[in-house]
Amino acid sequence: MATVVTKGLKKFYGDVHALDDVSLDIEEGTLLAVIGPSGSGKTTLLRSIAGFVKLDAGKIYLDGEDITHVPPEKRNISMFFQNYALWPHMTVYNNIAYGLRLRKYNKNEIAEKIRWVLQLLDIEGLEDRKPSQLSGGQQQRIALARAIVVEPKVLLLDEPLSNLDAKIRLRIRFEIKALQQKLRLTTLYVTHDQEEALSIADKVAIMHNGKILQIGDPQEIYTKPATLFVADFVGTNNVIEKKGYVRDGVKFVNLGKLVLQAPPNVDVNKVNIVFRADEVEIERRNEEIPGYDYRFDGTISGKLYMGFKFRYEVTVDDENKDIKVIVNSDKDFSIGDKIGVFLKKDKVFIF
Ligand SMILES: Nc1ncnc2c1ncn2[C@@H]1O[C@H](COP(=O)(O)OP(=O)(O)O)[C@@H](O)[C@H]1O
Ligand SMILES: [Mg+2]
Repeated sequence: MATVVTKGLKKFYGDVHALDDVSLDIEEGTLLAVIGPSGSGKTTLLRSIAGFVKLDAGKIYLDGEDITHVPPEKRNISMFFQNYALWPHMTVYNNIAYGLRLRKYNKNEIAEKIRWVLQLLDIEGLEDRKPSQLSGGQQQRIALARAIVVEPKVLLLDEPLSNLDAKIRLRIRFEIKALQQKLRLTTLYVTHDQEEALSIADKVAIMHNGKILQIGDPQEIYTKPATLFVADFVGTNNVIEKKGYVRDGVKFVNLGKLVLQAPPNVDVNKVNIVFRADEVEIERRNEEIPGYDYRFDGTISGKLYMGFKFRYEVTVDDENKDIKVIVNSDKDFSIGDKIGVFLKKDKVFIF
């Protein structure tokens, strides 16, 4: 258990700002998920905290102590890499024992710790196998065991589930969360999957071009995205860019016949209307749905069956250019149906 603080981290690779003034404060025993598209600097951030990157600027503190220049093996931080790279020629036992041997534990201590971690992760009985004799999920657990057996102060996980199929991914997600809570491990969890991040994290940070754009608890990130990028990145979204207009000093933008007021700071020539496919409702054209603040009309122009609901492409009516939006609904409509799309005020973001 430990706190991790970074202040103004910078790392340049030529013209690329892999880290551009990254300051973070991770509370003891909490899980911070870092999300962002490929190339946003997530791995560089983790590698910096682990001690594998020579920073151009900034400081890293572990429990208040400046560790910026402490070599990786002296940081007591475990990093779990994107492709978990178990040593193929070594047995499971030796893979897990590796870090313990480096730390000069004796044979009995090593055996004791390995027994503890195998039990913790429910992978007893695999000790003598080679990685090639394990399923993807088992390999993942062994790699996790290897990272936590040394009882690190901080655990860094770089896209730990990206190599697994969807079902196992969901199960191991629960396991990592349970383990992290049980051991109260201070954890940084990098993923490009926003749903994974929201579900597992105490706090979520969103990275783009080496910068942290927003950091907050998952609900806050989901319900109050600070920027267009965050709003677009989190959730299945419709982002509609339109020209707005000013009337009596107030900015507006239209979607079909719907008139939306835009915040004063938007560029009126380039207004973005953002709402999630799951946060709208649709109904036949002549019907109303109580409790919604806005409506615009549209025509169903595409339909996908998703099992638990339908996903529709809706072409917005009363626009001179084709504007298509995606809406999810359990109501069964057909292509060509004229419908109303209903929205709630606090579920529509305008940037
Ligand atoms: N060792 C390196 N040499 C040159 N460029 C690098 C190196 N490591 C990362 N970069 C660049 O820094 C940026 C951030 O990379 P990375 O941290 O791996 O992003 P992410 O993990 O979010 O995909 C990318 O543009 C990447 O190409
Ligand atoms: Mg990466």
